[in-house]
Amino acid sequence: MEQAFIFGTAAFGNNFTNRDEECKRLEGNFKNGINSIIVSPRRWGKTSLVKKVAKQVNNSGQQIKVVTMDAFMCRTEVDFYRLFTTEIIKQTSNKWEEWMENAKNFLSRVSPKFSMGSDPLNDFSISFDVLNDIQTEQDILDLPQKIAVSKNIRLVVCIDEFQQIAEYTNAINFQKKMRSIWQLQTNVTYCLYGSKMHVLTNLFSKQSSPFYKFGDLIYLQKIDATRWTSYICARFTATGKSISEDLAAKVSSMVDYHSSYVQHLAWLVWVKTTTEATQAQLDEALEDLLNQNKILYYNQTENLTGYQINFLKALVNGVQSEFTRADIIKLYNLGSSANVSRLKKALEQKELIDISGKNVTLLDPLFGYWLKSEF
Ligand SMILES: Nc1ncnc2c1ncn2[C@@H]1O[C@H](COP(=O)(O)OP(=O)(O)O)[C@@H](O)[C@H]1O
Ligand SMILES: [Mg+2]
Repeated sequence: MEQAFIFGTAAFGNNFTNRDEECKRLEGNFKNGINSIIVSPRRWGKTSLVKKVAKQVNNSGQQIKVVTMDAFMCRTEVDFYRLFTTEIIKQTSNKWEEWMENAKNFLSRVSPKFSMGSDPLNDFSISFDVLNDIQTEQDILDLPQKIAVSKNIRLVVCIDEFQQIAEYTNAINFQKKMRSIWQLQTNVTYCLYGSKMHVLTNLFSKQSSPFYKFGDLIYLQKIDATRWTSYICARFTATGKSISEDLAAKVSSMVDYHSSYVQHLAWLVWVKTTTEATQAQLDEALEDLLNQNKILYYNQTENLTGYQINFLKALVNGVQSEFTRADIIKLYNLGSSANVSRLKKALEQKELIDISGKNVTLLDPLFGYWLKSEF
């Protein structure tokens, strides 16, 4: 049977909704050689979006290939080089003879070693010794261009969780190396995306950063209310159950239209429903979802200072921008206006809040419910 809702992995097929504008924009960038940068808080839909567009472009029968990789596990520059090399080589051909050939031709200095399991196409890895010369690093960073030229195609290289590279030793130096090589590549386009908003914003919007103005910067927004409502109703119908539009609208508004939570909450309601979903089932489902996250929230608040908790209290009680007003500072015991800006910064770095312009929002809407009930 068709899956009603999806969460925990990228959304695809009938479980992917909306994003028409973003898909068009990204596809246009991919096809026209424009670098893209996508930024949003976690679990709003970046990975799902890029995967969808990558698949579309790869199936479009043009001389263009989209390669995707995830830098989340890359803790050092060398880890990154390994991932980059392996994924570029693997995803640009489905013949392992060609993999060896490419590695030999374009990476002669690293003398790569190959290991293959029983299924060479899926069970394949490349290893090479830790590098320490600049020429080798340049060879690796230029690998996509060399392969693209040799195959007479264009490549789009998508790197997920790109904020990791900001944490390497000598990060700025590494970024300079990347940018200086990548910007000369005629056949390769990049799509860089990730979740640590403040890190990524610095990386791409600070004038002194090597990646300043590297490409088209997309701040991915939430999927809007009406799209969620029709999506939820359609998924219930497609799986032989039903939910009223009113109730479906509540499902998404209760979790503030946060993509992953909308799908998760809708799933919990769906499981409880036999024929038509009810308000009582939605209430129970929300309770379930909160229970699943309780321990996390408990740990999260344990690591906060009293002032930080006070700030969050103000936020969940509806204060959005006027934290430095004298009566608000007094009511919520926030210290001083200088302290307020420190609190904002600290909570942003902990990825608990999002600051856009003057407005502050809590990134995890369920954490809001929990805070309200506990404090
Ligand atoms: N376009 C979409 N349509 C429906 N659900 C989505 C969509 N994008 C994301 N989601 C939901 O959000 C979850 C997280 O998406 P993901 O793409 O992994 O986000 P991110 O990469 O921003 O962390 C998915 O598992 C899915 O439940
Ligand atoms: Mg992701």
